[in-house]
Amino acid sequence: MSTTDRTDAKAAVFELVTGVWAACAVAATARLGIPDQIASGVCTTEGLAKAVGADAGGLARLLRAAAALGVLTRDAAGRFGLTPLGECLRSDVPGSQRALIASELDSAHWSSLGRLDEAVRTGKPVFDRLFSMPIWDYYRDARPDEGKLFAENMTAQSDLETRAILAAYSFAGAERVVDVGGAHGSFLAAVLRQVPSARGVLFDRRLMIDEARSALTGFGVADRVECVAGDFFESVPAGGDVYLLKHILHDWNDEECIRLLRRVAAAMSPQARVVVAEMMIVEGGPADQEPAEGATATRWAERASPAVLQDLNMLVMLSGKERTQEEYAALFGQAGLRMSGVFPTDSPIFVLEARRR
Ligand SMILES: C[S@@+](CC[C@H](N)C(=O)[O-])C[C@H]1O[C@@H](n2cnc3c(N)ncnc32)[C@H](O)[C@@H]1O
Repeated sequence: MSTTDRTDAKAAVFELVTGVWAACAVAATARLGIPDQIASGVCTTEGLAKAVGADAGGLARLLRAAAALGVLTRDAAGRFGLTPLGECLRSDVPGSQRALIASELDSAHWSSLGRLDEAVRTGKPVFDRLFSMPIWDYYRDARPDEGKLFAENMTAQSDLETRAILAAYSFAGAERVVDVGGAHGSFLAAVLRQVPSARGVLFDRRLMIDEARSALTGFGVADRVECVAGDFFESVPAGGDVYLLKHILHDWNDEECIRLLRRVAAAMSPQARVVVAEMMIVEGGPADQEPAEGATATRWAERASPAVLQDLNMLVMLSGKERTQEEYAALFGQAGLRMSGVFPTDSPIFVLEARRR
């Protein structure tokens, strides 16, 4: 290894650390509602500090960082504006990504990810031990504000993924689409918009369902969706011809997934299909390949598929994991289903379709 390679490698470590600081700065900017204030015309440090109830000195430092990161613009007179990145951190724009960054760096995720090494040692999620309850109970009982933000986070991620999924997989012919663990229903709404004759059932825990009704009105499909609250380990609504499971199976271990898939298999009509949307671990992907000669400090974002990083998020937060195609096929098999298709999308998401055996 040459001296230049070694310097590059050290610089790459520091770049990873600055990435964490940068993500925190953007999350704080979003959480404080700075983009909303700027959009409403408040654009000086003093004005923003007053509007969001912040210390002007501390805020000046955050705004400087946010401008350096390309979230805000700053003119010669010190007035702030929004870049396209800042625009999508407003809370009131279609496809807002504010909740994605605010929720993924909330205290639940942040404290758990900080103990990733502990989860690796024990093989168990650290969240439950740290907070003395599973994440879904925490969102319902301890921090419903973070629970609401998490649901909005799901909507934000769906907004990123939906176009790629709908371009790769056809829901044509669907009549009754059951979205199992559908949160506020943004993906279900997109499917219903693609198939105007279809009706939907949004199924999730009580907290989500209570908040989903107004979200569905905003998505323009409230009159075509029945909202049902329940526990998918007990039962799921019967009679659907499509059962959506988007980012559900990766939350749970194999035993739990099989239990849940059996509930779905029992509820579905004989011709129905299960449509799973997840990131998938692809063996032989970029993370498994040797870096090109001389590329010691290959940038992580070019090298690691989001699936292998999301897998670590699952490791600290929940009992689940990201899986390979073979692992999904095995889960389907044990629930009386067979994998009937795999559809890559122009995103890290794969659609896996299953039918009754
Ligand atoms: C990772 S989110 C995925 C949300 C949505 N499918 C999406 O992709 O945007 C998991 C969802 O499962 C729901 N959930 C968790 N445990 C559940 C249970 N036992 N019964 C029903 N829903 C549950 C959560 O409330 C949450 O909305």
